[in-house]
Amino acid sequence: MQLPEKGTNREPESGVVTSHLPEHGANPRRVYEKLGMEAPAELIDFSENCNPSGPPAAVLELWPKLISRLNGYPDPSGEPFLSVAANYHGIEVSSVIAGNGAAELLSLIAERYRGKRAIVVHPTFSEYETTLQAKGVEIVRLIASEEDGFKLPQEAILDSLPSASAIYLCTPNNPTGILPERADLLSIIHKAGEVGCEVVLDEAFIDFIDEGKSFIPQVKEFPHVIVVRSMTKMYAIPGIRLGYAVAHPDVIASLKSQVPHWNVNGMAAAIGAVCLEQEAYREAAIRHAKEEREKMTVFLKQHGCIVIDSVANFLSFKPLNAGKLYTDMLKQGIVLRHSENFHGMDGHYLRIGMKSSEEMEKLRGKLVEWFENELDRA
Ligand SMILES: Cc1ncc(COP(=O)(O)O)c(C=O)c1O
Repeated sequence: MQLPEKGTNREPESGVVTSHLPEHGANPRRVYEKLGMEAPAELIDFSENCNPSGPPAAVLELWPKLISRLNGYPDPSGEPFLSVAANYHGIEVSSVIAGNGAAELLSLIAERYRGKRAIVVHPTFSEYETTLQAKGVEIVRLIASEEDGFKLPQEAILDSLPSASAIYLCTPNNPTGILPERADLLSIIHKAGEVGCEVVLDEAFIDFIDEGKSFIPQVKEFPHVIVVRSMTKMYAIPGIRLGYAVAHPDVIASLKSQVPHWNVNGMAAAIGAVCLEQEAYREAAIRHAKEEREKMTVFLKQHGCIVIDSVANFLSFKPLNAGKLYTDMLKQGIVLRHSENFHGMDGHYLRIGMKSSEEMEKLRGKLVEWFENELDRA
């Protein structure tokens, strides 16, 4: 299945009208609006991937005090968050830049490659291409193969590096949830260094695995590597917009010279500093994501679906008829993430973000009914 041409509606055999579907998960009511469907009063949004336990209790306690920050300009470099983030990773403040979400940093980073070429390995987060194309960057699009379990196409990557100024890798990857092997990552990074290609590693979801898997401790050895982090997912604070990037101080200085003044609001900077102190909260979130992901994987496989081996707080799976399942679930207030704009998945997969145990159970209940109905119809 290819993405439909702009402005056309398509009704494939799957029965879902796929044109104009939102490019991202979350904002579920927009899905209904775009499909011209009436949204049920109650929705469960499995299309977004934030920690279902909500922001840490310490953030809610801090909330009333944040009102005093409204009438003052924030710190222009994002303090106190910046120093807490540097301390959290044991690195110098000069190696970190705070941003209005990882999204702002991706846009800022894309500017480095204006008029050049960048490699994007699909299926992956659509903002890499969107931000790069906005800066006139030519995209070298590589596609991980389904037959190969969506593993990084290592040979094609190594062959392409000399022709590009940057490569973007999502670690773990959204939407597959696959974390590349460290040896594969290192061989890409070494070769990229030799041929003058920068490596952008997006670790937006690494908090859900283990901080020990982050590339941040090694960034000082590799001045051509930029690591992007999001505070949105683990700390369930998508509304406040906070992220950061770690790189060589010269790269950070150059990014800082481009960033709008006061890009991080004062409330976000205070909240982010508190979030990074929440060790027990993080551990509980990692445990929960793993338990629910494993339970859902077994369930989906039992019902004949192909499930990608994710290590993140979401998983992608391929049922017999993804389009029909997607729309049938929408009718019942269950919003999954379609894969129409994930090149290489092309609508055949659906992604589920791990929610509370009750919500996951509810989803399994709806899915069982659907699988049984489909079996009866066959
Ligand atoms: C892989 C990936 N990177 C970055 C982002 C952006 O995160 P933020 O909310 O910090 O802008 C997202 C959001 O969905 C994402 O999925």
